[in-house]
Amino acid sequence: VTGPIGVFDSGVGGLTVYRAIHEELPSEDLVYLGDTARLPYGTKSRETVVRYSMKNVEFLLSHGIKLLVVACNTASALALDEIRQAVDVPVVGVVEPGAEAAAAASRGGEVLVIGTESTVRSGAYEKAILERRPTLRVLQKACPLFVPLAEEGWVDNVVAREAARIYLEPFRGRGVDTLVLGCTHYPLLRNVIAEAIGPGVVLVDSAREAARSVRAALASALRIRQSDWGPGEKHFFVTDASERFRSVAETFLGGPIERLERVDIV
Ligand code: DGL
Repeated sequence: VTGPIGVFDSGVGGLTVYRAIHEELPSEDLVYLGDTARLPYGTKSRETVVRYSMKNVEFLLSHGIKLLVVACNTASALALDEIRQAVDVPVVGVVEPGAEAAAAASRGGEVLVIGTESTVRSGAYEKAILERRPTLRVLQKACPLFVPLAEEGWVDNVVAREAARIYLEPFRGRGVDTLVLGCTHYPLLRNVIAEAIGPGVVLVDSAREAARSVRAALASALRIRQSDWGPGEKHFFVTDASERFRSVAETFLGGPIERLERVDIV
């Protein structure tokens, strides 16, 4: 039961996953690491993302974590196997839970996965969805502009709507019945994405699905903290501390961030 849950991301976006875990399991202690010095991961090669991820994992393990969450979709897509081989705590990524939910939600039409360039290029979501339901058709689209838009807080204005329209218009009315938000930042743009893809499409939020997987993994290992123990302790680390991180983080979290420290793992 003891030990925090460790969560890492390339930066601030993983706070959507952190938030979902906190809502699902408020009594758990959480340690979050955002690799703000080296972001973005979404444009980088597998080799680099694996190397950065391993450094993050090493840091979180030094905090005695009982479970590791890879909140970054790009790191989950590119580095999960290497991470699982290197650690002896349970590891939850965001791709498998998202794929599971998409495979269950689809009415048998097409599933559209949107994410960073590296996530899309890896084909990890497609593979994971087809493993679960081989008869589905999986389409993918990189939507890199959604990341800066979310960080700027431009989630519901004319620029966000136009970007979503340009990215998603080609998929509208084509038989897509399920769309996977395959990037940490995309849940913030949920409304404009839903509007652009059109009615009747189920949106799968990988962050929320990952939080459910965390609960299941802890429950099966009998390592869940009971809610009558009160709220868990939260600790945030970043590899580059900037004022920007704090303000963007508070938007993502929907509240103030306490206990924020810079660490040197680069
Ligand atoms: N966290 C990344 C992801 O979910 C998005 C930001 C980045 O490219 O580093 O893929």
